[in-house]
Amino acid sequence: MEKKFKRTLITTALPYANGPVHIGHLAGVYVPADIYARYMRLKGEDVIMIGGSDEHGVPITIKARAEGVTPQDIVDRYHNIIKESMKGLGISFDIYSRTTSEIHHETASEFFRHLYDKGEFVEKTSMQPYDEVAGEFLADRYVTGTCPHCGNERAYGDQCEACGTSLNATDLINPRSALTDSEVVMRETKHWFLPLDKWEGELSKWILEGHKEWKTNVYGQCKSWIDLGLQPRAVSRDLKWGVPVPVEGAEGKVLYVWFDAPIGYISNTKELLPDSWEKYWKDPETRIINFIGKDNIVFHCIVFPAMMMAYGDGFQLPDNVPANEFLNLEGDKISTSRNWAVWLHEYLVDFPGKQDVLRYVLTANAPETKDNDFTWSDFQARNNNELVAILGNFVNRAIVLTHKYFEGKVPAAGELTEVDTQLYADINAAKVSLSNNLDTFHFREALKDAMEIARIGNRYLQETEPWKVAKTGDMDRVATVMNVALQICGNIAVAFEPFLPFMSEKLRDMLNMGQISWDALGGDAIIETGAAIKPAQLLFEKIEDEAIEAQKQRLERIKKENQVKNFKAEPQLPNVEFDTFMKADLRVGTVLECKKVPKADKLLQFLIDDGMGTRTIVSGIAKYYNPEDLVGKQVCFIANLAPRKLKGIESQGMILSAENADGSLVVMGPTAPVVPGAQVK
Ligand code: MF3
Ligand code: ZN
Repeated sequence: MEKKFKRTLITTALPYANGPVHIGHLAGVYVPADIYARYMRLKGEDVIMIGGSDEHGVPITIKARAEGVTPQDIVDRYHNIIKESMKGLGISFDIYSRTTSEIHHETASEFFRHLYDKGEFVEKTSMQPYDEVAGEFLADRYVTGTCPHCGNERAYGDQCEACGTSLNATDLINPRSALTDSEVVMRETKHWFLPLDKWEGELSKWILEGHKEWKTNVYGQCKSWIDLGLQPRAVSRDLKWGVPVPVEGAEGKVLYVWFDAPIGYISNTKELLPDSWEKYWKDPETRIINFIGKDNIVFHCIVFPAMMMAYGDGFQLPDNVPANEFLNLEGDKISTSRNWAVWLHEYLVDFPGKQDVLRYVLTANAPETKDNDFTWSDFQARNNNELVAILGNFVNRAIVLTHKYFEGKVPAAGELTEVDTQLYADINAAKVSLSNNLDTFHFREALKDAMEIARIGNRYLQETEPWKVAKTGDMDRVATVMNVALQICGNIAVAFEPFLPFMSEKLRDMLNMGQISWDALGGDAIIETGAAIKPAQLLFEKIEDEAIEAQKQRLERIKKENQVKNFKAEPQLPNVEFDTFMKADLRVGTVLECKKVPKADKLLQFLIDDGMGTRTIVSGIAKYYNPEDLVGKQVCFIANLAPRKLKGIESQGMILSAENADGSLVVMGPTAPVVPGAQVK
């Protein structure tokens, strides 16, 4: 039996304001949350959706330092970009605020102080890296030194990027400060810890016994954390950027970002509803749903709930935490620092008026149960083959035919035939499935159910063929069919509102529909008989190859840039004696002929003028050159390499090439013309 509830509080993970929002954030958190919020509103539920920027934490201070600006400058920039772009995509927050706000600082500070006064923290001193020149404790990221695993001299205190090992600053050999390059010393510092072990029993009961219905990825992660045994967690840091620890003698210390950020949900609710926020947080008849990505599960299911338990005073725990997995981009992990992303604010410029296309593709491909991949080809195909060909096409036909036969007035339906009643039965079946899927956060499936209504519409017109009936003169039947077709359009406007709100609004405008509600879905009188409808406007348009190519090329460019940036030269080989080197006979030759080797996509066959005669050399560079372009060029080659057969051709030597960062090969030659057969020494 479902628990009864009076209202719903939807929270959405607060994105870090150290970069813009990308499709991974959207698919994981904001699009599903928005679908759910819009669905609740259509059902007439009391619902609020809370969002905001997470503006504290070390990465923001690092970015600020790198750019020579203040952390406040950084968060101002990205908070505005994020807020505007989310609005542009129609993410319908009731409030989108930020954790640098005064009300948040007050709320987080009070939260800490309350736990402090109740004796909920344990104080511990530990040794932390300290920069004596800067007079600051250093976050792990700010310590560099030699990796104890691979010897990389530029490893960071939290991770060695050469071998991928995650580290503690204390693991590094010769640790130095990234701020001043001075030697790092260890200094004692005091911090406050939340003893999660104290809440382990309660957490275990609440989740492992009480919430077996949670998504398996969420439940599973919680179970493995709890099974491992929970440890006290530090809730403060030695840092200047953040909410100051409100305790005497805590100068230079701030709340750990993961302590203050979830409190941001509460602060933002307060900011939205200064007088009634408490009923959304403290009334057991409120249902709290946290939309997050999988990397946030432990904080939302273990740490924040433990904070709430420690606080007491009626704070409610979430009813569900439908965390998603990750979305990849063209097969690679999305990364803000590597610029491997489709940024929302750029999408809105590149594809104006196509917000719903992105919403559709991200929902159809949502990483609900496993990581998923976004590709531009799939984006184009889903637009052209689904939105245009199925949804747009049906609505367009229904409206155009109404204008053709009934001058744009909704005709009255006569007696319904079996086809018509079957149609309404089918739509109602789709509605049941759609509602179930939305209620249980299965948004991919829900979108398919909504799409099914458009498919039903297309099949209906195919079956009833009103254009043929019109030729027989049976305009009563045509009127019934068009009435039904318009009712389907009305149903589409309702069913898709949570998913594609821009399309729905345009359609409602064409159909002159007023307020809509979820209850109306499935009905046969959504569109009033006799009402005038507007001329057909296209709901979706085809996306051409050029637009997609431009996006793919952008990604190619970024991939190349990253390869160059991350290039690491191979370690040098052991020394060889001069005499050994002189044994290799290196020469310059002129390319007389060059052609592809049949059935070998890597190989080119050269005929070279080597000053002594001609020779054949086979080289594995076919991917990087057009054979014609090399004819007449001069190349370096090893002349006395023992001949070997490649694809049946004897190669008499080897052409020298340099391997670039992306693995491509560039042929070596003299920088000015020389005689064929010239020695390279
Ligand atoms: N900023 C975090 C992230 O992007 C999410 C914070 S969610 C909150 O991973 F609960 F802390 F607000
Ligand atoms: Zn290493």
